[in-house]
Amino acid sequence: MPETMLSVSSKVLVELKGITKSFPIPKGALIACQDINLVIEKGRSVGLVGESGSGKSTVMRVLQLLLPATSGEVWMNGVNVSRLPQRRLKRYRRNVQFVAQDPFGSLFPHYTVGGNIAEPLRIHQTGTKSEQSARALELMASVGLSQDLYYKFPHELSGGQQQRVAIARALALSPELLVLDEAVSSLDVSIQAQILNLLQEMKARMGLTYAFISHNLAAVRLLCEDTVVMYLGRIVESAPSEVLFKQPIHPYTKSLIDAIPAFVGDKVKSLPTGSLTKVERPSPTHRPSGCAYHTRCPFATDVCKVEEPKWTEPLPGHRVACHHADRLK
Ligand SMILES: Nc1ncnc2c1ncn2[C@@H]1O[C@H](COP(=O)(O)OP(=O)(O)O)[C@@H](O)[C@H]1O
Ligand code: SF4
Ligand SMILES: [Mg+2]
Repeated sequence: MPETMLSVSSKVLVELKGITKSFPIPKGALIACQDINLVIEKGRSVGLVGESGSGKSTVMRVLQLLLPATSGEVWMNGVNVSRLPQRRLKRYRRNVQFVAQDPFGSLFPHYTVGGNIAEPLRIHQTGTKSEQSARALELMASVGLSQDLYYKFPHELSGGQQQRVAIARALALSPELLVLDEAVSSLDVSIQAQILNLLQEMKARMGLTYAFISHNLAAVRLLCEDTVVMYLGRIVESAPSEVLFKQPIHPYTKSLIDAIPAFVGDKVKSLPTGSLTKVERPSPTHRPSGCAYHTRCPFATDVCKVEEPKWTEPLPGHRVACHHADRLK
């Protein structure tokens, strides 16, 4: 193997290879995501964007081995972890931790803040009880929680404080990858900004990598080196974030970016959107033929209705699945 390939692969934290996940439904199967190929390199956080129902959470659940893939493989640090027996997954599970959307629902209501944060250490039998408490206090400091809150219960905290506890708990085992699924969406806007700032600062300080799902494209741009766009269960475009947000090619990506609210003075103003809001979104159970986006795409031609677009790479690292990528770039 050439040296360049070795050095690239040594940076790869997680790789999804051809992941498809379908769920049985009364009329057959619902394909939540299909043929997902995704590489997460150490230090290159990945943002996953797309409308609700596009399969983002399913992809991340498969990545965390919380759901078995229907087909495809999950690799971590060069090991095919999707084929490992449960007892050998402990290291992988430690290394990939999760922060959910609803902080209160994700915490144990009858455990104190300290107890919640130390819980993963207890489960993984890491350190003595007093070492676990000391680690919980250290983690509280690192996510900006005052030590006075150690003996409080989750219901006594604000939403922002609860999410800081959830983040501290996710960091307890020093993971390399943190999966954040709409982790700021349920918080007030001003609190969202605080948590996003914390995440950005922690990334640099702790050398963390994020897999970050968000409706908030501005947050993705801020936190993630790479962005991946999903539509109806498939990836349609991926690129380094600075490229994707400046020069999106896929018409769906363009419509998502057009819909990012613009700040005018201190007020948020929505920009006019393209076709996105005007045409109803198809269901994954009735996936349109050819390019699934053709029912909403202002640039669709006959070929789009019958032929699935192939991947092209108009610029190195910028990949897109669109018949007319050349014309639209
Ligand atoms: N456990 C499940 N059983 C059946 N369908 C599911 C299940 N989980 C997700 N889905 C369906 O899979 C599709 C993708 O869902 P999801 O991954 O949650 O999308 P997103 O996170 O982008 O909103 C949706 O149509 C959803 O209804
Ligand atoms: S393949 Fe056709 S329908 Fe699909 S995004 Fe490109 S132009 Fe639009
Ligand atoms: Mg989701």
